[in-house]
Amino acid sequence: MLVYNQEELARFVEEAKPYACYGKVADYIPALAKANPNELSVAVYTPDGEVVSAGDVTVKVTLQSISKILALALVLMDHGEDEVFRKVGMEPTDYPFHSIAKLEEKPAKPLNPMINAGALVVTSMIEGGSVPERLNRLLAFVRRLAGNEHISYSDEVARSEFATAFLNRSLCYFLKQHGIIDEDVEELIDLYTKQCAIEMTCVDLARIGLVFALDGRDPHSGKPLMPLDVARICKTFMVTCGMYNASGEFAIKVGIPAKSGVSGGILAAVPGRCGIGIFGPALDDKGNSLAGVKLLERLSKTYSLSIF
Ligand code: DON
Repeated sequence: MLVYNQEELARFVEEAKPYACYGKVADYIPALAKANPNELSVAVYTPDGEVVSAGDVTVKVTLQSISKILALALVLMDHGEDEVFRKVGMEPTDYPFHSIAKLEEKPAKPLNPMINAGALVVTSMIEGGSVPERLNRLLAFVRRLAGNEHISYSDEVARSEFATAFLNRSLCYFLKQHGIIDEDVEELIDLYTKQCAIEMTCVDLARIGLVFALDGRDPHSGKPLMPLDVARICKTFMVTCGMYNASGEFAIKVGIPAKSGVSGGILAAVPGRCGIGIFGPALDDKGNSLAGVKLLERLSKTYSLSIF
């Protein structure tokens, strides 16, 4: 079953690493600026339970925007498609992930759940009586997907983002003004920054990617961890909006449903075949891991992973 081998993967990592020098570690969240820009690790998880990895796979990465896909899955399960898509759209955008511009147009409904405005709406829909309860529901879901009970969030990264999330607060006030969210903005930012600070290794990322690749089924037990339709919607968003306003180019060059985060993580799901987790913190100007995208391109070409 396993066509991916460790030496080959290690060689691809070494080939992709030099591209990191053209990128920059995110520093608008101060705690993320500490990352080593030359780091690059990858894990490939196959349905038979095998994992092949290269680079330092013990390093933990905060999910940042990767969490948007996981919160979306949970909220679709909590509320159903109709209710979710009444508040957030399904269309990709050419605007950057933190743009406020489109919220000024009518209707103010965010274009999709992968940009910050849409993700804040999704997070506001996570059910529970308090921020800790809602965060714990999301964490419990993420732990089930990763098959790892120990996953938690980085308090340091969450605090660092909470202290500096002025743009996200602005998005929330716009959304509140237009009646799309209804909750206290500080509470929502508290939950959202903790969600973004959930941290894991690229092996965990790969395992979650595999669950999406298997239409929501647990690779070990075969039991559904989310309905097939939820997995399908999430994978579709990964293709159309997962790499932000670089999603079109990524679809042509790589062709794998994937979601990136400003920490330099990428979660990818190759339908029926494998999950891939990558960590490479040097980013391009759109917020995607530069070496990580190069590495995925190489993997896609070598193993014919494009879905198109
Ligand atoms: O809300 C933010 O700005 C960050 N917590 C997440 C943004 C992000 O990861 C965009 N990704 N490429």
